[in-house]
This record gives sequence, C-alpha cells and structure tokens, in this order.
Amino acid sequence: RRFTIAPSILTADLGHLADAIREAEDAGVDAFHLDVMDGQFVPNITFGPLIVESIRKFTALPLDLHLMIVSPDRYVQSFAEAGATSITVHQEVCWHLHRQIAQIKELGLRASVAINPATPLSAVEEVLPDLDMLLVMSVNPGFGGQSFIPRTIEKVRRARSLLDAHAANAELQVDGGVGTGNIACLAAAGATSFVTGSAVYNRTQTVRDAVQALRDALSPDRVAAAKEDQP
Ligand code: DX5
Ligand code: ZN
Repeated sequence: RRFTIAPSILTADLGHLADAIREAEDAGVDAFHLDVMDGQFVPNITFGPLIVESIRKFTALPLDLHLMIVSPDRYVQSFAEAGATSITVHQEVCWHLHRQIAQIKELGLRASVAINPATPLSAVEEVLPDLDMLLVMSVNPGFGGQSFIPRTIEKVRRARSLLDAHAANAELQVDGGVGTGNIACLAAAGATSFVTGSAVYNRTQTVRDAVQALRDALSPDRVAAAKEDQP
C-alpha cells in the first residue's frame, strides 16, 4: 500500500507561506492539506478560496481541502475554481450527504467525507462506495497541535474492514495529532493518508528532517512490526 503524507499548513509560518510550501515540496510530501474553518462548525477561523488560489500558484501538488464549515455546498464551486484537487466535507453538517458528494464530483474533484471523533462510522456507511477518501478525525477539529485521541486506532481498523467489505477503494485518511509516535500503528490499522501539521511544521526540526522521520516510520518493516503489536 502506498502512503500519502499531506502536511497541514496551520502551524507553518504564514508570513512566509510560499517558503513553507516549497520546503515541504522539496522534502517530498505528496499533497497539501488545507484546513478551512468558518468559526461556526469549529471554534476557529482560517481562510477561504482567495488563499487557496494563491497557494495553487506556489505548488503543482494536489491540494486536499478540509472544509470545516457549515453549508459547504455554497462554497464548493469557489474552492474548485481556486484550484482544489479534492474536497472533504463533514458528515455532521450535511443533511444531504449523497447530493453533496455528487456536487463535488460533478466539478471534477475527488470527493471525501470526514467524521468527528464522536461520529460513528455507520453515519457514512451508505456512501462509502461513492468516496475517493474517508477522513477519520483523530482530534476534535478546530486547532493544530492537539493530542491524538488513542481510540482512533481502533476506529481506523473498523473503517478499514468496512471499506474492504464494501470493496470501496477510497483512501483512508487520519487527521489530528499524527506523528512519528503513532503513524506506523495507524498504517498497520489500515490508514493510507496522513495529515501532519505540527509534526512537519514545528520549532524543533527542519521540515526536511520531519518529513524524513515520518517516511522512516512508514517503512514496510516498521509498519509490519506495528501490525504484530496489534491486539
Ligand atoms: C484540525 C485540523 C488538522 C490539524 C492538523 O482541526 O483539521 O488538519 O491542523 O494539525 P496537527 O497535526 O498539528 O494536529
Ligand atoms: Zn484537517
């Protein structure tokens, strides 16, 4: 299984965003994860299509948009025009999730759905075959740098079985508190895509070293060892 590392720019130096992006790109990341927050669905506000459009000019890598906003249907088109590659919406804000997924796909983007730590997998089971990615949140969304909720590993394992049972080939992403200490366990549990904010953009390491450490942790032998340790 090929693993995707998608840094979140939330803890990067936003005054030098172009540099932060270039450093991660040079370090070999696979995509950028852009956290859009509206101050309603989550208690924080970040940025909208305008910033996404300027990021699109710095990098050719996929832009993985995580919309933590109410009424995402009102903004999906603007984010598509701004250069999004994939759009993740939260199940919790979608009355018509099936229609929401269709809207994203009609714009030619990859469609993904996120669930909060308290939301059961059953809430998305009916749409799994329609998804390009399922995002299992491992923190309550709103801020970078929060601690990983350990029970997520078990949830990822169940998400993997469910995807396999539906023969769905969606990527399985985890977001929040992911780093070298848990990334191999998450991969062993069946995750394929890893959002890493503070594990990539922090004050103790260069971006290059941070990304390399994550890649090392995802090496086949370390993932296999993590699998042996599973209950
Ligand atoms: C949380 C965001 C995450 C977060 C990741 O609301 O969706 O993408 O910023 O940052 P870390 O890896 O620092 O938890
Ligand atoms: Zn996110």
